[in-house]
Amino acid sequence: MALSPTQSRRAFLLGSTAAAFSLWIPTHALAGLAFDTPVAIQPIDNGTVVDGVREYSLNLRSGTTEFFNGQQTKTMGINGSYLAPVLRMRAGETVKLNVKNDLAVPSTLHWHGLNVPAKADGGPHQVIAAGERWSPEFKIHEVASTMWYHSHLMHETALQVWAGLAGMIIIDDDVSDGLDLPSTYGVNDIPLVLQDRRFNRYGSMPYEASMHDEMAGMSGNVPLINGTVLPYFNVSTNRLRLRLLNGANASIYNLAFSDSRSFVQIASDGGLLVAPVAMSELLLAPGERAEIIVEFSADDKVVLESVGLTNRSHGGQGMGGRMMMAEQNPQFELIEFRANDALQTSSSIPETLAILPDVLASNATHTREFLLEMPGMGPLRMLGLGGGFTINGSSMDMQRVDEVVKIGDVEIWEITNAGPMIHPFHIHNTQFRIIDRDGQPPAANEAGLKDTVVVHPGEVVRLLVRFDNYTDPERPYMYHCHILEHEDAGMMGQFTVV
Ligand code: C2O
Ligand code: CU
Ligand code: CU
Repeated sequence: MALSPTQSRRAFLLGSTAAAFSLWIPTHALAGLAFDTPVAIQPIDNGTVVDGVREYSLNLRSGTTEFFNGQQTKTMGINGSYLAPVLRMRAGETVKLNVKNDLAVPSTLHWHGLNVPAKADGGPHQVIAAGERWSPEFKIHEVASTMWYHSHLMHETALQVWAGLAGMIIIDDDVSDGLDLPSTYGVNDIPLVLQDRRFNRYGSMPYEASMHDEMAGMSGNVPLINGTVLPYFNVSTNRLRLRLLNGANASIYNLAFSDSRSFVQIASDGGLLVAPVAMSELLLAPGERAEIIVEFSADDKVVLESVGLTNRSHGGQGMGGRMMMAEQNPQFELIEFRANDALQTSSSIPETLAILPDVLASNATHTREFLLEMPGMGPLRMLGLGGGFTINGSSMDMQRVDEVVKIGDVEIWEITNAGPMIHPFHIHNTQFRIIDRDGQPPAANEAGLKDTVVVHPGEVVRLLVRFDNYTDPERPYMYHCHILEHEDAGMMGQFTVV
């Protein structure tokens, strides 16, 4: 099977990717084509409450998916052939995820953004062998938010997420219920999993990473929105809430509408912002989520695009002097919104959303430094010399715990990017706050709850971090770059909470 880790590794080792290169659909393959497929909206899975615990059944499967008419490609999915149901949960309740691995290979399922016991985290240490079951149970400590879940198998996360093992989680609470936000799922509350894949002329998307891809991250020539190629959405209300998830392996999307219309961001990774933030461009890196509200007039036709990096998207600091890899920021048309000739009216956007504590760096009792580097790139790497991706000089080692943190301690994590690429830094088991970027306070849309943060080349980002609720001296959680090829190549470390 084209997607088995062994075979794709073998293809890589034998250098047969060179052949695959020539089969790629050129980047402009979709340019000028019409958006002619309604976007897939993954079904909501509310689980079933058994003795006060909300239980879900999740089956990891391999299958085939038809992304292009009449062309089947091998994929993986959860309760389906590609991607997964949207798990809907409520703050404060206890959930149990009954996971069965029906793949022919091992896997894991990680609950990205959630504060859970280490043994329930679904990282590289919670491997589910082929044919086996795993049933973690935990309380939902989070507020209303858009989270996600995905495979996190050591060295294979990139391949398995590429194949399709990822889905969205929506958490509700009383605060969000009390706000008059668009909340009719699939009508004016829309999940959008943004990805791109590299298709060949046969309509397949095998994971075949060249040496360059392992460095730059795997990006594709075809955007997939909820797994749909060239999708459109029929707009029937004058305001839409879009729950955006960057589920790509490596691409950092700078999102904007084709007519440059402004929109408001209402939530970041971990939940609602203090107040809506008006914007016209939104930078969203792998792992990050954002909820936005967009207004429509009757008969509108507008395309959500990834426009590539601009000065504005760079935290207002300009790009001068910083080496950038344009390849990290592709330009794509993603999805077309087509408004009906008469639109239902949604209520207006609330002026205030959530109450968040002030970010007081002075409360911190420890500072930890994390230096992200890409040593041995270029000629040395070509010769197989030098480590590829490190944090504080080391590549990930499952036997080594890098940091030990005390439960409840307030800490400053200072992330320095010494390399030439953007790294989205993610910490498991917590929602943190950004203190500053190069000494400057974060933009308003980054001032809320976050679990993944873009760190630009040369930048130092300070985070206010705390881990609550669970200790486990044995089992670690992960922190890592969310470019999955970087994570798999070693830009990941482990910490325990004691
Ligand atoms: Cu999105 Cu370590 O995960
Ligand atoms: Cu995570
Ligand atoms: Cu990275």
